[in-house]
Amino acid sequence: MIRKALVKDLDKINALGELLQPNFKSIYKLKDEINKDLTILFVNEDKGIVNAYLYAQNLIDHIDLLSIIVHPDWRRKKIGTNLIKYLIDNYCYQDLKPIILEVATDNDSALKLYESFKFKIVNTRKNYYNNKDAFLMKRG
Ligand SMILES: CC(C)(COP(=O)(O)OP(=O)(O)OC[C@H]1O[C@@H](n2cnc3c(N)ncnc32)[C@H](O)[C@@H]1OP(=O)(O)O)[C@@H](O)C(=O)NCCC(=O)NCCS
Repeated sequence: MIRKALVKDLDKINALGELLQPNFKSIYKLKDEINKDLTILFVNEDKGIVNAYLYAQNLIDHIDLLSIIVHPDWRRKKIGTNLIKYLIDNYCYQDLKPIILEVATDNDSALKLYESFKFKIVNTRKNYYNNKDAFLMKRG
């Protein structure tokens, strides 16, 4: 079940985020962001276990997809797909609102996931993640 994240979910979300970025909690400061109007933060919960989240900002002319993580034990079960579908269905006004994101150029699983939703590479950002390049991708 996908649902809006609550304050009680933040420890779990930060723990998931830290699987990818050790300083996730201090970079994203979700405790401050969770109640802002522009924040989109939802989780996937399975039998009481929060195993994935999606975090984005709903800006005036586009959505910035900032982070999506599925716990390693739950990958390849379409949870990532369902989170992005939920974002599109609920925030993109029948595809009128574009989504942008950055993804490391070597993150094949995420690239495949985004391409399945017709995200296109629009730019390459050199050394975006320390010394790793990132693609800027856009949908819509
Ligand atoms: C990227 C991520 C969110 C995908 O979540 P997921 O729930 O495992 O993805 P799904 O099951 O919905 O997969 C959808 C499609 O993406 C592609 N894909 C996902 N994981 C893949 C993998 N390990 N290898 C190859 N393709 C993969 C496949 O095309 C897959 O469809 P298929 O299983 O029918 O072949 C997950 O791997 C993750 O959390 N990664 C670490 C965090 C991350 O990199 N986030 C993105 C940062 S920009």
